[in-house]
Amino acid sequence: MSGCPQHDEQHDESGATAEKPIPEVPGLPVLGCVPRMLRGMEEFFLDSYRTHGPVFRVPVPGRRMLVLAGAEAATFLGSRRAREVLRQIDLVREVADEFEASESLVGMDGDRHLELRAALMHEYSDRITEGHLGTLVERLDEFLDHDWPAGADVHVMRAVQDLVVDQLGTLMTTPVPRKAANDLRYFWSQIIAVVFANLRPPLWLKLPRYRRARDRARRLGRDYLRSVLAGRRHDRRLPPLISRLLDLHEQQPDLVPRENLNLLALIPYFAGMDTVANALASAVYAITKHPDVHARVVAEADELFDGRPVDVAALRAMTATNGAIMETMRLWPVVVGLPRRTTQEFVFESYRIPADTDVFFAIAIPHLMEEYFPNPRAFDVDRYSPPRLEHRAKGAYSPYGRGTHRCIGQSLGEVLMALMAARIFHTRTVTLPSPDYVLPRTLRPAPGPSKRFSVRVGERTR
Ligand code: HEM
Repeated sequence: MSGCPQHDEQHDESGATAEKPIPEVPGLPVLGCVPRMLRGMEEFFLDSYRTHGPVFRVPVPGRRMLVLAGAEAATFLGSRRAREVLRQIDLVREVADEFEASESLVGMDGDRHLELRAALMHEYSDRITEGHLGTLVERLDEFLDHDWPAGADVHVMRAVQDLVVDQLGTLMTTPVPRKAANDLRYFWSQIIAVVFANLRPPLWLKLPRYRRARDRARRLGRDYLRSVLAGRRHDRRLPPLISRLLDLHEQQPDLVPRENLNLLALIPYFAGMDTVANALASAVYAITKHPDVHARVVAEADELFDGRPVDVAALRAMTATNGAIMETMRLWPVVVGLPRRTTQEFVFESYRIPADTDVFFAIAIPHLMEEYFPNPRAFDVDRYSPPRLEHRAKGAYSPYGRGTHRCIGQSLGEVLMALMAARIFHTRTVTLPSPDYVLPRTLRPAPGPSKRFSVRVGERTR
């Protein structure tokens, strides 16, 4: 057994010697708690937390998942101690293996991870939008004209995924043709279902449809690099992420070896595509569902596009729009929890957590708790503005994760979501199929709005 109990006890905030037995959530004989989880992950983890406290085991087929939950778990995940006792789960390696890479940013740990993260921080931030927001708006309009024509019933998930892939490509690498975007989308959704959501067995990754999409995604990455390496290397207009990766490869080949360039060039799509699309689609629903919020969002959008060039400060100043997006991610978090592997035994809230164990950090639970967000089921976009700032309570709000792997694309994602939402509501009327329509959600391949979610789009007359 590794680890040092003496040291761990110092980190047990209750000060008690850690010997509480870990409770188990009761479940069905073979399926365990899966049927309850499928009815609603957030509700399931919240109920279990209320009943059993911040540590519990959940029986699922073949194993008993160890869960650390609540604001306590979110705070711990962001702590220095977490860095010492946790690492990424082994399955994350699958992603690198699928690209014949030795490692990926997401799967790395320790100092190498921090070094690569720091080296890429600027290229993943909202700063890369400066000077490009006009182009992004032009491309948005092209996509909206094509996919969101007046009078159409638009399948929102599909339409926003295409938008997001194009916006990320335009900014960070180069735009991806729509057909290739389908491959990226399919490949990534299946990896998520197997690796992160545990909703499909690892054997799934052997199926022909998955393998075809994966091979085409790999080719896409290779083609990117081939085209830039073939002559545009010193072109100052090289997309920022590609340019940075090539510089790093030249200057620090140990940190960015050649075999990893392909995957590193595609990571923005994998990490940003579904997350932004899920959040934006849910926001389109929530804004449309609440006429008072809708009116404020439209007013902000009209002011943003009143003829002056759009900038990041103006996007961030849209209180209702950004509040609606944050509120969306509180109520329908893109990520309910995060898996990690323990590297040594440690004490958490008086429970002894064993070494070499997969642990699930259910960090989105506080999003639905009255203690942090009064009237938690209400869609209230002003929670995040002064003086309320409800999301600032310790461990309360974690849509972008916590700790060393916390989302590196957060500021970029925020700006892109605000821009896309504003452009949609500035240029179009959006109506739900009926006033009592409820957002259809799915767990497969990953939790999020279902692809059945549709809205009726119309022309806006101003
Ligand atoms: C609504 C938008 C987004 C949400 C909710 C979101 C959520 C997350 C979460 C929860 C993590 C932590 C994963 C973990 O700890 O294992 C993460 C990591 C990451 N995100 Fe995001 N993300 C969003 C947008 C983006 C965008 C737009 C990009 C890139 C363009 C991006 C790139 C990344 C990367 C590269 C990581 C891994 C960082 C690392 O391992 O060091 N994300 N994201």
